Amino acid sequence: MTFLRKLALSASVIALGCSSALAADLTVGFSQIGSESGWRAAETSVTKLEAEKRGIELKFADAQQKQENQIKAIRGFIAQGVDAILVAPVVATGWEDVLTEAKEAEIPVILLDRGVDAPQDLYLTSVASDQVKEGRVAGEWLATTVGDKPCKVVELQGTVGSTPAINRKKGFEEAIAGKANITIARSQTGDFTRAKGKEVMEGFLKAENGGKDICAMYAHNDDMAVGAIQAIKDAGLKPGTDILVVSIDAVPDIFAAMVAGEANATVELTPNMAGPAFDALDAFLKDGKQPEKFIITESKLYTPADNPQGEYDNRKGLGY
Ligand code: AHR
Repeated sequence: MTFLRKLALSASVIALGCSSALAADLTVGFSQIGSESGWRAAETSVTKLEAEKRGIELKFADAQQKQENQIKAIRGFIAQGVDAILVAPVVATGWEDVLTEAKEAEIPVILLDRGVDAPQDLYLTSVASDQVKEGRVAGEWLATTVGDKPCKVVELQGTVGSTPAINRKKGFEEAIAGKANITIARSQTGDFTRAKGKEVMEGFLKAENGGKDICAMYAHNDDMAVGAIQAIKDAGLKPGTDILVVSIDAVPDIFAAMVAGEANATVELTPNMAGPAFDALDAFLKDGKQPEKFIITESKLYTPADNPQGEYDNRKGLGY
């Protein structure tokens, strides 16, 4: 965005007497990954709502899990001359060229919920959780829960090459590093989907004495955990009791599983990445204020002691 364009936008905000809302004629492109999980669906709904609340015209592009579609969408937004671009990058690498094109067009880019391996000056800010911490919180919960008992863990990883898959694995491994009794016996991607989570868990169960040798299942998101829970039940075992279930996101379905005694812990990931992103964009366009490079959302642990029915009720209307 040119300096003059920014000035014009600021002037229209002042003329409208808006103190926090962005100029009503602001157009923002949003390149979303797809709809692989309940959390992703909620992030899409919340982003649309946040845009509407602020009078922003949101141009939405669903990449159906493909980076090439995201790059195409971003190039389309640049060609249309949008005022800013939000992107949830499916994988970490391969963004430098298109982000450089956005920078040359003076269009600020904000990353949502996942990171990129690219120079930091190519994006305005990144709104995401501390994904290493999420993995660590899950691992610490497991370490505390099993104590000194021997515990073979199976791990369902997120999409290969995505920052949450890389970082949630790292954080979990860090948390159990000093615990010789806890080992990750098997680890495979379930691509953040329920169907893949179930399929991969079926394989783990077969390979581990029908599941009798598995003490815990750690999934990088709740959707894969929900799929895995079904596989555990189909194998004649009790999820949550015979095999501990710990995952990340805090979507309504995992709270329903907790109510049923079939899940033990989840780490919350807010679907509202767009609120902080639009606030940062607002301040940048109005006053030229550079936001923090990394805006970090909270990572709170929930267990069955945290009123799972209430948490389910609070979240179920949010577009999950
Ligand atoms: O990038 C965030 C992750 O992507 C969420 O944990 C997962 O559910 C989603 O698909």
